[in-house]
Amino acid sequence: MITILGIESSCDDTAAAVIRDGILLSNVVSSQKVHESYGGVVPELASRAHQQNIIPVVHEALKLAGVDKDELSAIAFTRGPGLMGSLLVGTSFAKGFSTALQIPLVDVNHLHAHILAHFIKAEGEDKKFPAFPFLCLLVSGGNSQIVLVKSYKEMEIIGQTIDDAAGEAFDKCAKVMGLGYPGGPIVDKLAKEGDPSKFKFNKPHIQGYDYSFSGLKTSFLYLLRDEVKKNPNFIEENKKDLCASLQQTIIEVLMDKLYKAAKDLKIKDVAVAGGVSANSGLRQAFEDYRLRYGWNIYIPKFGYTTDNAAMVAISGYYKYLDNDFCSIDAAPYARLTV
Ligand code: KG4
Repeated sequence: MITILGIESSCDDTAAAVIRDGILLSNVVSSQKVHESYGGVVPELASRAHQQNIIPVVHEALKLAGVDKDELSAIAFTRGPGLMGSLLVGTSFAKGFSTALQIPLVDVNHLHAHILAHFIKAEGEDKKFPAFPFLCLLVSGGNSQIVLVKSYKEMEIIGQTIDDAAGEAFDKCAKVMGLGYPGGPIVDKLAKEGDPSKFKFNKPHIQGYDYSFSGLKTSFLYLLRDEVKKNPNFIEENKKDLCASLQQTIIEVLMDKLYKAAKDLKIKDVAVAGGVSANSGLRQAFEDYRLRYGWNIYIPKFGYTTDNAAMVAISGYYKYLDNDFCSIDAAPYARLTV
């Protein structure tokens, strides 16, 4: 029996989860509310909140799983990328706990973990896993990548953003409309009642599978600036259509390149992961592509779109099976792509 405790603390969610023989037993996330009034994550506050949360969150995850700490086979933790102060809390805790329990440590790449979230399975759940090699569109606040996933540990980025990430485009455009933070979910909600064809924004023309979202952001900004000059109530009166048109454009940009990659590589298994994969329009686009192009699509449950430790625990589980452990002096890293 292999029982893995996963710990995630890369940004503003303190999370712990337990996976036994590939089956999820518990998944606890404590999201930090302290950042809301600042309109973004404040790194120093995040690391302090992690310090307060980590012990209760791990305790709760073990309790909910019905697992005693002495039954753990290994501790998996997010080593990076993320905020250094936040990563240090999870990393230090994992090291201390594994030393005390005299069990191995497994370091996990946060971006790999988002992708491997597709392999999380609960007891009795009937779930089809993607078949290797598959493509994963990894879209979050910090990344927009097309990843060719060859195995649990072999992943190749074949396309990525050359400037802003998709989540950033949602958040920054939401900010100029005076919507709250993070803007993505608010735009998603308002877009449901808007007309996606009302406004047209610039789309990037970039070779290969890379993305760019800064031109779209500028085009959005200029439209607002010009229209608000003529009508000061423009944003308020057109909020829903603006959100629907913005969302539609972001989705078209994401899907066009993903389609091109899938076609060129002759891959039918296509997944989506990361915070932006919660977007209802993007989820619908995947469904449309499934019907139109015969894709086998993999869309994560909402709880696995945002940061969580179940994805860290499942990544740790596969590394454990591979005897892929890390040493006690493994330092966290703030930056690294897949
Ligand atoms: O992966 P994630 O939780 O963490 C970071 O990379 O920071 O992604 C957060 C991003 C934010 O930009 C947020 O606005 C976006 O995911 N997001 C969404 C939705 N839910 C979260 N974007 C569009 N529609 C959503 N429903």
